[in-house]
Amino acid sequence: MERIQAPRGTSDVLPEDAERRLRLLRLCEETLGRAGYGPIETPAFEPTELFARGVGETTDIVEKEMFTFEDQGGRSLSLRPEGTAPVCRAYVEHGMHKLPQPVKLWYWGPFFRYEAPQAGRYRQFTQLGIEAIGSDDPSLDAESILLLSELLERAGARGVRVRLSSLGQPETRRAYSDELREHLRAREDQLSDDVRARLDRNPLRAFDSDHAGTRAALEDAPRLLDRLAPDDAEHFAEVRALLDAADQAYEVDGTLVRGLDYYTRTVFEFESSELGAQSALGGGGRYDGLVEQLGGPPTPGVGWAAGIERILLAADVPPAAQARAAFVVRADGGSTALAFSVARELRRHGVRAEMEQAGRSLKGQLKHADRLGADFVVIVGEGDLQVKDMESGEQRPVSSTADVIDLVAGSSG
Ligand code: HAM
Repeated sequence: MERIQAPRGTSDVLPEDAERRLRLLRLCEETLGRAGYGPIETPAFEPTELFARGVGETTDIVEKEMFTFEDQGGRSLSLRPEGTAPVCRAYVEHGMHKLPQPVKLWYWGPFFRYEAPQAGRYRQFTQLGIEAIGSDDPSLDAESILLLSELLERAGARGVRVRLSSLGQPETRRAYSDELREHLRAREDQLSDDVRARLDRNPLRAFDSDHAGTRAALEDAPRLLDRLAPDDAEHFAEVRALLDAADQAYEVDGTLVRGLDYYTRTVFEFESSELGAQSALGGGGRYDGLVEQLGGPPTPGVGWAAGIERILLAADVPPAAQARAAFVVRADGGSTALAFSVARELRRHGVRAEMEQAGRSLKGQLKHADRLGADFVVIVGEGDLQVKDMESGEQRPVSSTADVIDLVAGSSG
């Protein structure tokens, strides 16, 4: 029969990688929990309208990258390409504006974008994200940046760089877009086809281009950062002052544009030099109009998301402390029931314990114990029980399961 393979751009996570991911998950839970963030889970699919309205009709994500389908009732649904719009939907749907503000949430789960697969870019990927909803205090912007920074450091990510900017208010951005469009129009023959085609709808995306002519045309272009309204400029200065006081390195980059339309004020991106073309480890910013746009009361918010697969490409996640390990060998005539219960008792006492279950010879079993990295081997023979310390090579007879536990787990608890 022909083999069936996983869809393009998806991958199975086998135990070794899955363990690294779980260690990272525990690190997140601890780091974010300490800062008062609570976990939230939202569905893997949502009404398509949520992303059209939240992320923006003209973004690449909504225009080209969503897995959209109709359910049996004719409703248009989409696999979630990102988590901020869903979390804001949940905030509104569950009346979270009545809770003490800000509501701080974190999530971890699968997201889906129909992109050309390459190293670090997948059609199903895992995001870790946080959202702090209900306050526009600049300390929340700074705190969220510092949390991602701390997390990446604890995860062992190498070559991390932070870019920071502010996009101001939608009105400022609109006026600036007109100004930039005019600037680029005057240099239209230098632009890439792609940028020229988007000039009407989204001239800011030109900053994402690596086309030489486009870059040259942008060199003397006006900068949004120079156009911010006074209170936005002040907000940005406060975010920066807090980051400076915390000794957080960052680079102000007025060309930073994010691929989602909901941003206002602060935006940032974390990159790693360890990654190739897909260098963004994570990114985020403030979205003070999003909750209202989804039918809720006017509510500011700020957050970020980071790609787990990319973090793992750029990081040496510290190994977890290994529990003591034992392997229960069955010698000729040894009781299966005894081997079975010894293994279970060992586990109850915190030992990682397995027993022989594949019909290997005695020699084969000892070799397997070695392969598993067992610290001890328990040999269940005909009417006798022995414990071998694999490090010292010392082997001694014992009279009961309790003795085995004493020797292996270090207590008869
Ligand atoms: P984003 O920049 O679109 O932001 O995605 C965040 C991170 O997800 C990226 O930096 C990258 O690490 C990872 N990522 C995105 N697409 C892929 C892919 N195809 N394959 C692998 N990894 C990927 C957002 O999604 C916003 N919701 C972030 C946010 C939260 N802003 C405010 N709150």
